[in-house]
Amino acid sequence: MGTGVTHPMWPLFDLRLRTERLELRLPNDDEIAALCAVARAGIHPPDEMPFAFPWTDKPSPRFEREFAQFHWGIRATWRPDSWDLELMVAIDGRPIGIQGILASRFAQMRLVHTGSWLGHEFQGKGYGKEMRGAVLALAFEGLGAEVAETEAFFDNAASAAVSRAVGYRENGIGRAAPRGTPVDTQRFRMTIDDWRGRARPKVEILGLEACRELFGVGGDAGQAVAGR
Ligand SMILES: CC(C)(COP(=O)(O)OP(=O)(O)OC[C@H]1O[C@@H](n2cnc3c(N)ncnc32)[C@H](O)[C@@H]1OP(=O)(O)O)[C@@H](O)C(=O)NCCC(=O)NCCS
Repeated sequence: MGTGVTHPMWPLFDLRLRTERLELRLPNDDEIAALCAVARAGIHPPDEMPFAFPWTDKPSPRFEREFAQFHWGIRATWRPDSWDLELMVAIDGRPIGIQGILASRFAQMRLVHTGSWLGHEFQGKGYGKEMRGAVLALAFEGLGAEVAETEAFFDNAASAAVSRAVGYRENGIGRAAPRGTPVDTQRFRMTIDDWRGRARPKVEILGLEACRELFGVGGDAGQAVAGR
C-alpha cells in the first residue's frame, strides 16, 4: 500500500521506511520538539562524547534552539548533489531517536554516510541495528548506492557492534576532536556486494518515487548534476 504524495512541495515528508518494529520518516516541527526532549533527557553519560560534533554539550536554551535549527537547516540547504536525510525513528508514533543518511554528489559517487542516536532508555534493544538496516535498504535497494561508510570512536562499542552486525568491514582509522583533544575513530565500509551477500532485513520503503530527483538520481536533477 502506498502513502501517496501529500506534500508535493517537499515529497521527502511522504517518505517512510518501515521495519519490523520501527517507522523512519522526517519529523514535523512538533516531532522535532519531541525528539529534542528525548535528546535532552540523555543520549550518553556526560563524561563521554560519541559525536564528532559535540552538539549534546550545549546548555539550554541554546541546545533546544540549535537542535531545531539543525533540522530546519538541512531542509533549507538540501540540494540533489548534497543532501542529509535525518529521519526520526518512531515506535508506535513515539519518537525515540534519529537515523541519518547523507551524501555529496551521490549521482557520481554512489556513496552514503550514516550517523545515529537513540535516547538512552531505548538503547540496547536492537533498534540501532534495525534502523541502520532500514537506511541501508534505502541506499542500496532504493537509491542504487554502491558503498556505505560510517565511523565511530574506538570506545563506542555499541556503534561498532551495530556496524559489524549489519555487515560493514573495518576501513582504517580516522580522527576527530569534539572536545578539543584528538580521538581516533574506527572507520567502517560496506559495499553493495556485502549487502547482497547476507540475509537482508525486511524493510518497506514508501513514497520514494517522488523523491528521486531530490536525491540526485532521477528526473532533471540527475541530468543537471551529471552534466556539471
Ligand atoms: C549507537 C546506537 C545508535 C546503537 O543502537 P542500540 O539500539 O543501542 O544498539 P543495538 O541494541 O541494536 O545493539 C547492536 C549491537 O551492539 C551491541 N551493544 C549494544 N550496546 C552495547 C554496549 N553498550 N557495549 C557493547 N555492545 C553493545 C549489542 O549486543 C548488539 O550486538 P550483537 O548484534 O552482536 O548482539 C545507540 O547505542 C546510541 O544511540 N548510542 C549513543 C549515541 C551514539 O553513540 N551514536 C553513534 C555515534 S557514531
